[in-house]
Parts: sequence; structure tokens; C-alpha cells
Amino acid sequence: MKQSNFIAPSILAADFAKLGEEVDNVLRDGADIVHFDVMDNHYVPNLTIGPLVCEALRNHGVTAPIDVHLMVKPVDRIIPDFVSAGASYITFHPEASEHIDRTLSMIKESGCKAGLVFNPATPLNVLENVMDKLDMILLMSVNPGFGGQSFIPHTLEKCRQVRQLIDASGKDIRLEIDGGVKIDNIRAVAAAGADTFVAGSAIFSTDDYKTTIDAMRAELALAK
Ligand code: DX5
Ligand code: ZN
Repeated sequence: MKQSNFIAPSILAADFAKLGEEVDNVLRDGADIVHFDVMDNHYVPNLTIGPLVCEALRNHGVTAPIDVHLMVKPVDRIIPDFVSAGASYITFHPEASEHIDRTLSMIKESGCKAGLVFNPATPLNVLENVMDKLDMILLMSVNPGFGGQSFIPHTLEKCRQVRQLIDASGKDIRLEIDGGVKIDNIRAVAAAGADTFVAGSAIFSTDDYKTTIDAMRAELALAK
């Protein structure tokens, strides 16, 4: 069954010079979870933030769930560091792990919630074997590496497929969409079955986060 809607601002689009304040503000203005993009200049052609920054947000006083999206290869080495740093969800791309089941188990046994991330062209077949270990499935609606790209419409079809798989499993698995989500397409994304909506530039490029998040929620309320 579909879970309650979560709006997950991607801090990739925040002002890193005042990151604690940015996260406080976006949570105050109605965000549910913090989407934390980790890029390694190897799996993706960009370099961002690591466990020290996650820990700094926790020490700053952030208590909301932190949704760590690993765009790194390999993944296993860095997982314990994110666990210690206070991650809530840890998601990774199946092609970045040699042993997907082992990596998922490592995350689950650490007490974090685990998820798999599918690029626009990555097939979903791996899901057949690991549904029992998943708390989240993340579909990329852009190719990973950068914020501010355009939503790839084919993701909606993939999203409907994953919604069916989750419903058939009977498990509480979140369905998250990441990339190019904005006020004017979030309703269609929800209608396709998503319950967790990453939005970076759509939120942080606006002056008033609350107005933007409220507008997203108003659209979500209209989704069928
Ligand atoms: C892209 C990242 C996204 C990105 C989304 O690789 O995974 O989370 O920050 O940014 P927008 O919402 O601007 O497309
Ligand atoms: Zn992301």
C-alpha cells in the first residue's frame, strides 16, 4: 500500500556555505526528509559530500531522517561511515556493488533502512531477488551526477511497474523519484505511484521554500 507522501529536498542545490541553516529552513518550511547526494567523481562525473558532512548536520541538531543516496563505486567501504554519521536511509546503485544482497544486508544489519537506485536505463529485474531486504526503491528520472536536469518522461512508466511490484509484495517499501521533479510534474509522478519526491533546484532555487513546498503538497493532494 502506498505510504504517506514525503517531500525530500536534495541539499545538492542548497548553499553549502550555510548548509545547517539551509537544512533547518527547509525542514521548518515543511520538508519531511533530507536527501543527501554522495558523488565520487568515479561512478558519476561529479564530487560532492561525504560522511563528515552528514555527521555535521546531526551535530548541528538535525533530527529528521537523512536519506543518503550513494553515487559511489564501490559502495561497501563507505557504508559503515554513513551509519556512524547518522544516516537513516542508505540507497545505492546495483551496478556499483559486486554483491547486491551482501550490501543490502550490511545496511539492514547496521540498523539503517536500505534501498536500491535504478538509473533511467537500468532494468528492474534485480528486484525479483531482494524485495524482502528493501525499505526503499529509488527511480532516477535523470542520469545521475548533476542537479537541474530535465525529467525523463519514461520514468513514469517504470514507476507504475514498480508500484505494482511493491503492492504485490505487500511490503512497506517507499517509492522515491529523483531528478527534475517540480511543482508542474509532481502530481503526475504521484499518480504513477511514487510516495517520496526528491526536489533540489525546484525548492532551493526559490526564495521562499514554504511557498514551493506548499504548492507541491497542493498538487499531491490532487493526484489520483
Ligand atoms: C542527481 C541527484 C539528485 C539531484 C536532483 O544525480 O541524485 O538528487 O540533486 O536535483 P534536481 O531536483 O535539481 O533535478
Ligand atoms: Zn539523489
